Amino acid sequence: MNSVTVRAPATTANLGPGFDCIGMALDLWNDLTVTMGRFSVSTVGEGANLLPQDTRNLVVTGLEAVFNHIDQPIPALQYECTNRIPYARGLGSSSAAIVSGLIAGSAISEANLSNEELTVLAADIEGHPDNVAPAIYGGCTVGVRNGAKSWIVDQIRVPDGLNAVLFVPETQTNTHESRARLPDQISRTDAVFNIGRSAMLVNALSTGHLDLLRYATEDRLHQPHRALAFKAMPHLIKAALNGGAHGAFLSGAGPSILALATEREVTISYEMAETARTFGVEGKPMIMAITQSGASVVASS
Ligand code: HSE
Repeated sequence: MNSVTVRAPATTANLGPGFDCIGMALDLWNDLTVTMGRFSVSTVGEGANLLPQDTRNLVVTGLEAVFNHIDQPIPALQYECTNRIPYARGLGSSSAAIVSGLIAGSAISEANLSNEELTVLAADIEGHPDNVAPAIYGGCTVGVRNGAKSWIVDQIRVPDGLNAVLFVPETQTNTHESRARLPDQISRTDAVFNIGRSAMLVNALSTGHLDLLRYATEDRLHQPHRALAFKAMPHLIKAALNGGAHGAFLSGAGPSILALATEREVTISYEMAETARTFGVEGKPMIMAITQSGASVVASS
């Protein structure tokens, strides 16, 4: 194989209470083509001027992880990225890069790793499975660490016709800095608050009891702490609910806010944009479907 093209979806993580465990794939895709040849990295689209164009780029990290895993020398390759996922906005752009690199590496090395093997490699790079697992499997996933060397992932059924209505602020969030602001310990009351809602979230999605999502997407583990640096967050969530969303939450580490809806998507998007304007938050609304497809090879030669 001389060249392979992979696509990987945007993802949203946490879905409110499922911090570092629950995530969902969105119908918005980055493409990566790797071709045998002198090493280079080029990017067009989202984040093109901000992403490193060298071995620090996560598409390279992902691909190299496969060759290290199978104990083979890393070949010289040209990496061409076409990015559509907003960069550093809580929509899984890092995971899409890691996962597309891994899948390209798996194909070009002919290692043909299973989704389980890809998930372990990807979650080890990212540190948690809530974005990488849905990027690999598609749909909605729950993933947990199982000891130091493994991760267990399962898929959660999602009702047909569920859409994501987003408000994507112009400002970027540095995930490491955002995580550093979270407390190491929480009270038992807050733990119970999140455990109950995570369980209710999974059940509401798989049974289609969408009226429960309003409660099941509430969180006390990360959103209140992140709201200290993003005052508009609770107001944007409220605006989405008032507009007719079933539930709404901070997407991953933010700053994007994601609302789940089966109707009134345009109204929800308008309400969020109006509230953002009131708070002086520049950004854009986006509406996209939840996708059941995960990352895959789309062309090879
Ligand atoms: N679960 C992660 C977080 C997602 O909230 O920090 C972003 O990587």
